[in-house]
Amino acid sequence: MIEVEGLTKRYGRHTVVDDVTFRCEPGTVTGFLGPNGAGKSTTMRMICGLTPPSAGRATVAGRPYRDLPNPGREIGVLLDASAQHVGRTGREVLAVAAQTMGVAPGRVPDTLGRVGLNPTAAGRRVRAYSLGMRQRLGLAYALLGDPRGLILDEPANGLDPEGIFWMRGLLRDFADRGGTVLLSSHLLREVEAVADRLVVIGGGRVVAQGDRDDLLSGAGTLVRARDPDALRAALGAAGLDATGGTDGGLLVAAPAGVVGQAAADAGVALTELRPAGSGGLEQIFLALTAGTSVQEAVR
Ligand SMILES: Nc1ncnc2c1ncn2[C@@H]1O[C@H](COP(=O)(O)OP(=O)(O)OP(=O)(O)O)[C@@H](O)[C@H]1O
Ligand SMILES: [Mg+2]
Repeated sequence: MIEVEGLTKRYGRHTVVDDVTFRCEPGTVTGFLGPNGAGKSTTMRMICGLTPPSAGRATVAGRPYRDLPNPGREIGVLLDASAQHVGRTGREVLAVAAQTMGVAPGRVPDTLGRVGLNPTAAGRRVRAYSLGMRQRLGLAYALLGDPRGLILDEPANGLDPEGIFWMRGLLRDFADRGGTVLLSSHLLREVEAVADRLVVIGGGRVVAQGDRDDLLSGAGTLVRARDPDALRAALGAAGLDATGGTDGGLLVAAPAGVVGQAAADAGVALTELRPAGSGGLEQIFLALTAGTSVQEAVR
């Protein structure tokens, strides 16, 4: 449903999204995880045709987003909850959107109800909305065209615990009915509860991806070498699967002894070799994205 292939974005000398490849299938929630500045929003903007990629491509339902005749009917997008017209009421925002998408006006109250905006809230101007209410309205906007997919950038931002719980239920239900969801977050715990697949990004690169349960089981070894290409080749020669990493860090689904032996056999000097840890994905997340958050933030 959503396919991203070799997507790359450079701003001047900085590569902020670097050769990102993943796909989101119907019936699944994909969590797009990474620290601040990792490149999540930029990737999502490229998928939605708002930022032109420097290389690579992204398609939604088999076509570039911009070529979709009525995109709101295919894929609901929530990238920036503050982007709504603040002088309109929530109801007006949706009514205008319904007209643009060719959606029956009768769907507006239903959709507002679905996201928990009652008639009083819907009649207030967006200017007076709290962040959580704006997120709900943004989600209503995304759902309005009854799309088969959703792309949501940090949708839980500003929601209270009850709101987060509610949103998880909504997204899970959407996927269980065959929908495709891609949602970003910088909080592992938040996506862990709802996503069945994870794509972890750090410093613009995908550092791990796969089924949540596989990644969470934490089985594996974190290994780093000064020459990551040589390390990759050595692991490949030993028949070991490695997921990519920043600063040459790789996650390998094998015990540390086996990984160390493979490196030694190929004469590759390691700078780090240790079990990825039973702390599960949090360990992997912290280890693989170590240092990238701060680096990115000061750019
Ligand atoms: N228009 C731009 N010009 C230059 N650099 C940019 C531009 N937009 C984004 N960047 C840089 O790209 C990097 C990735 O930004 P992005 O917003 O995609 O990160 P993010 O993962 O969404 O982070 P956050 O969790 O803080 O939302 C950052 O270093 C940012 O400064
Ligand atoms: Mg962002």
